Amino acid sequence: MSLTSSWQWLLLNIFLFVPIISSSHIPPIVPTCRDKCGNLTIKYPFGSDYGCGHPDFARYIKCTSGELRFSSGTGAYTVSTIDYTTSTIVITDLFMSTCSSMQNSGSFRLDRASPFTLSSQDIFILLGCSRTSPVFDPNEDLCDTGSGLHLCKGLYSCDGVTGIGLEPNGPISSCCVYEPIMEFGSGYGLDLPKLQCSSYASMYGFGGDETDPMKWQFGISLEYNDSYYTETCKDCEASGGFCGFAGFKQSFSCICRGGGNSTTNCYGRGYAWSGTLGHKIRSKISFGGGLLFWVLLLL
Ligand SMILES: *[C@@H]1O[C@H](CO)[C@@H](O)[C@H](O)[C@H]1NC(C)=O
Ligand SMILES: *[C@@H]1O[C@H](CO)[C@@H](O)[C@H](O)[C@H]1NC(C)=O
Ligand SMILES: *[C@@H]1O[C@H](CO)[C@@H](O)[C@H](O)[C@H]1NC(C)=O
Repeated sequence: MSLTSSWQWLLLNIFLFVPIISSSHIPPIVPTCRDKCGNLTIKYPFGSDYGCGHPDFARYIKCTSGELRFSSGTGAYTVSTIDYTTSTIVITDLFMSTCSSMQNSGSFRLDRASPFTLSSQDIFILLGCSRTSPVFDPNEDLCDTGSGLHLCKGLYSCDGVTGIGLEPNGPISSCCVYEPIMEFGSGYGLDLPKLQCSSYASMYGFGGDETDPMKWQFGISLEYNDSYYTETCKDCEASGGFCGFAGFKQSFSCICRGGGNSTTNCYGRGYAWSGTLGHKIRSKISFGGGLLFWVLLLL
């Protein structure tokens, strides 16, 4: 093989390959949206990435390393389920107590302005509260002193109570079944230092057996405002796009699957070209380039 021909194939290959390689290295300017975050199906108003979903939700919900996280002023919590039919999510606080593990918890707060509110089935149980705790103020009536007491008995029978320095089946006088009353837009706060309690447990169900605290469903169920869908968003989704937002004003943007965005929908956006078909065509081109390489090498 002569020197000129080897230079020729080198140049030819550089010419053929470079545009293909460099085109995949241009950082995407428009966000890419996915319909999954780990195991969870992500649908509007939630978004998998910044710029996807509704901006009011993007402030609170983020997908990080395949995990959907809910943030509030008091920390970040894992979203374990999303039920789109009832517009509820369940979040879990790592520092919250359950029957199997009790520990000192942080506080929990829900922003007044957030589109989330506590679900009516949530039950908060304050554990290891001091005798002087304001929750026991008889004038305030903050604890359920009736049927709720069996929940305290149940939790105090768990082996986990040793985690907050108590003996299993000890007196339940430091426990309070706290019944928060809240409406949409009123916010909610559980300030443990102020309440002088070591920990809290939150449940959204009994798992079919109210007498067995090991079966109780621990976590915080939140309802979200489901009136964010607009006709524009439905039109965008029908065209294969994701509803999102862009710009300083966070105005509506339809994010197309293969890249690109629009203020309306993704029809005529070359979706197939930049999607799977585009990949196939690109690999055919690079296969062609490789073939040319061998043909030239043999010359
Ligand atoms: C995701 O699903 C797999 C298999 O169903 C399960 O083992 C895993 O715990 C799930 N992960 C989360 C974060 O729920
Ligand atoms: C729910 O969201 C819509 C749209 O943003 C808003 O107009 C409405 O006031 C919200 N409803 C509540 C109860 O917060
Ligand atoms: C498209 O996305 C870019 C980057 O986020 C943004 O600056 C632009 O305003 C968006 N355009 C439309 C039509 O949404």
